[in-house]
Amino acid sequence: MNIRTKILWNVQPHLENVGDKVSIIGAGMVGIATAVSVLGTGVTKNLVLVDAFGDKVKGEVMDLQQGSLFLKYPRISGGNDFSATQGSKLCIITAGVRQEAGESRLTLAQRNSDIMVKLVPELIKYSPETILLMVGNPCDVLTYVAWKVSGLPQHKVLGAGTTLDTQRFRVLIAKKFRVNPANVHAWIIGEHGDNSIPLWSSVNISGMKLKDLNPLIGRHNDPEKWIDLHREVIGAAGAIQELKGYTNWGVGMSVAAMARSILGNKLAIYPVSVNANGKYGIADDIFLPLPAVLGSNGVCDIINLNLSPEELASLQDTAALLKTVQDGIHI
Ligand code: LAC
Repeated sequence: MNIRTKILWNVQPHLENVGDKVSIIGAGMVGIATAVSVLGTGVTKNLVLVDAFGDKVKGEVMDLQQGSLFLKYPRISGGNDFSATQGSKLCIITAGVRQEAGESRLTLAQRNSDIMVKLVPELIKYSPETILLMVGNPCDVLTYVAWKVSGLPQHKVLGAGTTLDTQRFRVLIAKKFRVNPANVHAWIIGEHGDNSIPLWSSVNISGMKLKDLNPLIGRHNDPEKWIDLHREVIGAAGAIQELKGYTNWGVGMSVAAMARSILGNKLAIYPVSVNANGKYGIADDIFLPLPAVLGSNGVCDIINLNLSPEELASLQDTAALLKTVQDGIHI
């Protein structure tokens, strides 16, 4: 007998793989920020971190485990073998090459698509019922690739979309009014990147539409230059990359919020990359960010926005651009 058996009469074997397992693929800066943010929400008791670089991911897992006492003691595991993701409810894909400062996310499409073509089938092999949440860039196009390669129904494949862009937009507007961003209702849709589309026609603070008060808002001839806020959103990632070399915390927290809505069946609405086919005059399988309701089975509904003619035209132009990029990828 050892001390343990002297203290504990064991009744049954301990279950290990319990709870809504979340697997994060990629233990780089975005993966780690996502892991900490997801753990901080407390939505999962079972987090797995996977990365091709074994020592790196094992070190990150050990480091996180040593803090888990302060995080409601979730099970944290991982390694460089996809089998660790077995039975995942949600797989968050942060793996891939990242853009350098000044580089468009779209230029990463083929390189990261090649990674997804290898990685996604492995995830589906171990978790055929999983929901896939794509974070790597260009996330809208990679969400399309993940959907094509996974064989999953489209409601179970989504991308981080313009959730981060929209939060950046809301924070900037909130700063102008010195109010809480939670009370600023605004959407950016279309593409996570240089071709994103701010929906100025619907921006409101507690129901007060800014466009009613400044009909030129968002236009080039607007004396208040609100358009500069969108330019700042587009430039946000580059500005941070110039300073620290990458972005990770904003996207990590955004992904954790989406994960919380999915795992907790919260039915919260985020502008995630979804298949826009059949909506807004789009007639192809193009994944792009639109406000969608997220529940325990993935995308539950897509919001039918009341777009202005200009916003609709911009969305269709961006969809055409994304289709060109999609068509240019060798899957
Ligand atoms: C950014 C990266 C996640 O916008 O694309 O920070």
